[in-house]
Amino acid sequence: MGKYSLVTGCFAGALGLAVVLGLVFAFATTPWRNGRNVDEEELLALEDFEDYLMRQVDPQSIRQFLRSLTHLPHLGGTVEEHRMSALISDTWHQQGMDEVHMVPYEVLLSYPSKEVPNLVRLVDQDGAATWVSAAKQKPLYSPEEAIPDVPFTFNGYAAPGNVTGDVVYVNYGRAQDFEKLSEEGIDLEGKIVLARYGKIFRANIAQTAEDLGAVGLVLFSDPSDYAPEGPEFVYPHSYFLPPSAAPFGTVKLVDGDPLTPFYPATQSAFHIPMAEAPIPTIPVQPISYEDAWQILSRLGGAPAPEEWQGGLNITYHLGPGFSQPGWKLNLDVNNNNTHTTTYNVIGVIKGSVEPDRYVLLGNHIDAWIFGGLDPNSGTAAMLELSRVFTKLVKEKGWRPRRSLVFCAWGAEEYGLVGSLEWTEQFGKQLADRAVAYLNVDMAIEGNYTLRTKSAPLLYQVIYESAKKIPNPDPEETKAGRLTVYDTWALRKPDPVESNTPLMQFIGSGSDYKGFQHNLGIPCMDTRYTYSNRTLGEPQYHTLYETFALVDEIYDRGFHFHKAVTDLWGFVALRLSEPEILPFSLGAYATFISRASANILEKYGDLIASQNITMDYFTAAVQKFNLSTIDFKKSIEKLDLKNPLAVRRVNDQLMMVERAFIDTRGLPGRPDYNHIVTAPSKNDAYSGTAFAGLSDTLFALQETPDDLRPDLWVTFSRHLAAVTHALETASKVLTDDLW
Ligand SMILES: *[C@@H]1O[C@H](CO)[C@@H](O)[C@H](O)[C@H]1NC(C)=O
Ligand SMILES: *[C@@H]1O[C@H](CO)[C@@H](O)[C@H](O)[C@H]1NC(C)=O
Ligand SMILES: *[C@@H]1O[C@H](CO)[C@@H](O)[C@H](O)[C@H]1NC(C)=O
Ligand SMILES: *[C@@H]1O[C@H](CO)[C@@H](O)[C@H](O)[C@H]1NC(C)=O
Ligand SMILES: *[C@@H]1O[C@H](CO)[C@@H](O)[C@H](O)[C@H]1NC(C)=O
Ligand SMILES: *[C@@H]1O[C@H](CO)[C@@H](O)[C@H](O)[C@H]1NC(C)=O
Ligand SMILES: *[C@@H]1O[C@H](CO)[C@@H](O)[C@H](O)[C@H]1NC(C)=O
Repeated sequence: MGKYSLVTGCFAGALGLAVVLGLVFAFATTPWRNGRNVDEEELLALEDFEDYLMRQVDPQSIRQFLRSLTHLPHLGGTVEEHRMSALISDTWHQQGMDEVHMVPYEVLLSYPSKEVPNLVRLVDQDGAATWVSAAKQKPLYSPEEAIPDVPFTFNGYAAPGNVTGDVVYVNYGRAQDFEKLSEEGIDLEGKIVLARYGKIFRANIAQTAEDLGAVGLVLFSDPSDYAPEGPEFVYPHSYFLPPSAAPFGTVKLVDGDPLTPFYPATQSAFHIPMAEAPIPTIPVQPISYEDAWQILSRLGGAPAPEEWQGGLNITYHLGPGFSQPGWKLNLDVNNNNTHTTTYNVIGVIKGSVEPDRYVLLGNHIDAWIFGGLDPNSGTAAMLELSRVFTKLVKEKGWRPRRSLVFCAWGAEEYGLVGSLEWTEQFGKQLADRAVAYLNVDMAIEGNYTLRTKSAPLLYQVIYESAKKIPNPDPEETKAGRLTVYDTWALRKPDPVESNTPLMQFIGSGSDYKGFQHNLGIPCMDTRYTYSNRTLGEPQYHTLYETFALVDEIYDRGFHFHKAVTDLWGFVALRLSEPEILPFSLGAYATFISRASANILEKYGDLIASQNITMDYFTAAVQKFNLSTIDFKKSIEKLDLKNPLAVRRVNDQLMMVERAFIDTRGLPGRPDYNHIVTAPSKNDAYSGTAFAGLSDTLFALQETPDDLRPDLWVTFSRHLAAVTHALETASKVLTDDLW
């Protein structure tokens, strides 16, 4: 690329497109001039930012970072996690960040015993154990799989306990699965529940099992989901799940430190009693599918329904109990809830013009075991991106217009602990000043296509960035799909606009939660994923998520890592550089209109049967659409040289997402405040827009008549809150109070 000149290259291209698309999209005319001590000659010799980034982000450097991050297990709150935090902090100091902060929180985490493993036993009629599950996952390939530091298999926050009872197989443990069992007359009181992982968040399964009186829960990953091509074609021969894999994961439903709800776990924090902590009271344990076979192949009772049959070479039965009379299952969990310290590491490149406006980028530090994909593929990408941005500062005297804030979070795997405590501690400043939070939990979990969850305000910035990243897949390039966007549009298309890539709902499941759902800061979470299936990557949270899995199977050459790193950097630049924030208000209006139409279509008759009017709501939705159009018109003639005018308009843009925050929370969910984008209650991973309305309506359908009036009151009250928020979102886009 040639020399930099005003409004050329990428920025001009984007500007043109934005005008065509009628979007709020404008860029700085003189981004390079933000620098200090840059002489004219050097200024003119600079390539534009994106070109610089693209040339500097080095796959081999990402590979080296990943290697250095994945030698040892590094569970949240352990010495190994602290070592990793220090490594990130040292790296950022060396790279020349303006500021690096270590931010400690004293929190409650959970570990397996170091001496006594968690075991599942088959016990015969005389009480003798006839079979015992594996204490650890079997080493299969990479040398580090065999080191003694590998923890005993466990689920975070599963209660310690030693219970014995009959087993009931509950399929995926969804609401409809438990209903089915209830229809079959199978009672879970006193039973140990066996569920397969994969369709919903495991903590939701644990909560339902506990509510239904089960005394324990055993989880496994079924080969039909994670090893569909049979036991021969699994890791290390492919990325599919080997029979000995047992995925870890937290079973705490509430995010953050369980003992300091809503407030930061600093030294002065008030801690609720342990007995009130929102963690399971029953033991829960993951096992491998070869171990699940030992239980399922002996289970009595009726055969499970067709859709409940899995990939093991047997007919799955429901239970309760075993075909051998008197046999029981013993679940022996020896976890320990422990008060410990976890650290966030925060690195800052100060903005030149608006240092108090933050574009945040984040990934987490802790891993269940080696974290080859989750999170360290993302950590490696973040360290490479910070290397390149700080190099740009050092070598070229460049500075972003707004501050870039790099965040490495502690103890994410335990339920977003480090990030949530941080958004609690700095919530007021962030709500006022943060432009966006860009999360990469893992850079890759495969090499099939990009998959992105995002707030609608960021759609256009992400689409435009993805259109400029060369396709890392040589086969796809050969087929004429030259960019990341092209493969994304082909392999994950939007169901409504089929030539456009799908933007997934920003539900929960990673560190953006506090930003999006509590503070109203627009968020993105992106990665390369492994297939068009909705299930997660097969090795997720297992022993086999090693450096070798990444280096030898998923991303030989680290080109997919580079693509995600480039994209992350492009999106950050496009939010940090332009004078006017490039938020896609039009996309937000469309999103909200579609979501409201969905609710009316699905539940319109039900609502009408109560004589509840949706007219105010519908009018507010339309008003929001019109306000975004008026706003775009009003800023056409904005004097970009007037810093107060620019700041005023940006403040209005930033207020839009904030307007959807209800400080009192959604019905029955004080920890979710965003009335549009909160994830649905029944599954913390997925999303339904206006979850407060749709969850209540869903519940109404399931509720006996005599209990309905209370729910209708809940609905009406929340409908009014939603309507009020929509009206506010329209008003913040003007200079007037009303
Ligand atoms: C748990 O109970 C089983 C069966 O009664 C017993 O064999 C085992 O030793 C117990 N585990 C512990 C840690 O006490
Ligand atoms: C069925 O699967 C189990 C567990 O993977 C295995 O041990 C057994 O050999 C298999 N049996 C047959 C007949 O394939
Ligand atoms: C639980 O952890 C605490 C603090 O680390 C330790 O003192 C205690 O011995 C542990 N208990 C068990 C049962 O491992
Ligand atoms: C995934 O892609 C394959 C072919 O590439 C196709 O056969 C299959 O239907 C797709 N599945 C989904 C869920 O889109
Ligand atoms: C992409 O992943 C597949 C496994 O899913 C692997 O066989 C292939 O070699 C990978 N492609 C690249 C370019 O790394
Ligand atoms: C927004 O309003 C404009 C102008 O009335 C209309 O053309 C457009 O379809 C509306 N969009 C949505 C998503 O309702
Ligand atoms: C709705 O209004 C109609 C007409 O006024 C009335 O007959 C009906 O009972 C009302 N239904 C409810 C649930 O209030």
